[in-house]
Amino acid sequence: METRTPLGTVLITGGAGFLGTHIVHHLLSHNLASHIAILSRSPRTPSNLTSFFPTSTISPSDPRISYHPADLSSVSSLSSAFSAISPDLVFHIAAAKSSAPAREQQRTTILGTQNLLAAAKSCAKTKALVYTGSNTAIHPSGTTCIASEDVAVLWTKYDRICGAYTAYGRAKAIADADVRAANSTDLKTVVLRVPIIHGQGSPMIESVAKSIRQSQQNMQIGGNEKMFEFVYAGNAAIACVEAAKFLISEEHPNKAEVEGTAFHITDGTSMKFWDFWRRCCDVAGKPVEEAKIKVLPFWFLRGFASFGEWVVWLGTLGRSRSGFGVSRAEVDYLDEGIWWDISRAKNMLGYQPEVTIEDGIKRGMEWGMRAVK
Ligand SMILES: NC(=O)c1ccc[n+]([C@@H]2O[C@H](COP(=O)([O-])OP(=O)(O)OC[C@H]3O[C@@H](n4cnc5c(N)ncnc54)[C@H](OP(=O)(O)O)[C@@H]3O)[C@@H](O)[C@H]2O)c1
Repeated sequence: METRTPLGTVLITGGAGFLGTHIVHHLLSHNLASHIAILSRSPRTPSNLTSFFPTSTISPSDPRISYHPADLSSVSSLSSAFSAISPDLVFHIAAAKSSAPAREQQRTTILGTQNLLAAAKSCAKTKALVYTGSNTAIHPSGTTCIASEDVAVLWTKYDRICGAYTAYGRAKAIADADVRAANSTDLKTVVLRVPIIHGQGSPMIESVAKSIRQSQQNMQIGGNEKMFEFVYAGNAAIACVEAAKFLISEEHPNKAEVEGTAFHITDGTSMKFWDFWRRCCDVAGKPVEEAKIKVLPFWFLRGFASFGEWVVWLGTLGRSRSGFGVSRAEVDYLDEGIWWDISRAKNMLGYQPEVTIEDGIKRGMEWGMRAVK
């Protein structure tokens, strides 16, 4: 007999990816879901659970997990998945990578989100959808003031894009707006916008670990003046679950204010980017000496990244724009900075980052130094 759990049957798009794995682990280790259906194009990558949580008792073959291959851009494959799973709740985590070209952003992030919303609305059992948005959906604000959700201005479909980074940001913004607009009596929705996610499995932490292995951790791109936000993957997972509980609950007093709303979610500790990077090196036992820091100016890296992307694009006949290890998107990102107020999430959702940024860095680097040889 199925045990009653707060969230019931949960469908997680991208549930075998980085953040998705943290959500799966959080749900199962706290017994919050009776069944977890992981949906992605090729979701059989269960090694993430054991790699991120080596001492956990949750196994990839846990009978509460099922794997469903489906592409978000295919209406028929989503419709079959919803018929088979009949979820109470959807965590929509899947998106095209930030380096993917504009047509992939359109196909997966924009069209895929619209298809998923339609499939969720037409499934009588599905009551709520939580979407992970991104800080890149917001026009760069600079770092002169702390920004709340009220002052955030999102990209729109009318904005011109220039390169993969803005294509990703615009796609995340359109999906963000579509998810909020889809909130209705049949389907309750919420958007959680997250900045750089760190922790076990984080591409960012992997980059720090690689730089240490290659003795290049003292490199710095551009200055170190602007504030950045970070969120430990486990904290982002908790925020997703807390938001879902609101949407599913019948009579919470703040319910109406939460539905169809966007929230900024961070660790609650803003840091300059290279201070975060060096803290990662410190906890890995490879501190960076101030005198040995080598600064590469933004203009140089921008040129190098653009050149690499064009060379790879031409060499692969337009199939890839992966560049020479650093993308133009990453360089632009470092030059912008973000500085967020998370009062809305604290006041309305009762969100509290359970893991401090320091502990998150320790967990991430412990994984990173193990994963990168
Ligand atoms: N990582 C960050 O620092 C960061 C920062 C801000 C926001 N975010 C957002 O947070 C979410 C999770 O990010 P992540 O880093 O965990 O991403 P990730 O590891 O790349 O996982 C994304 C998942 O989406 C699935 N996917 C991609 N295209 C798909 C498609 N067409 N149909 C079905 N599934 C598809 C992929 O699985 P398959 O390959 O098997 O399809 C993958 O498991 C994303 O929405 C991202 O935009 C991430």
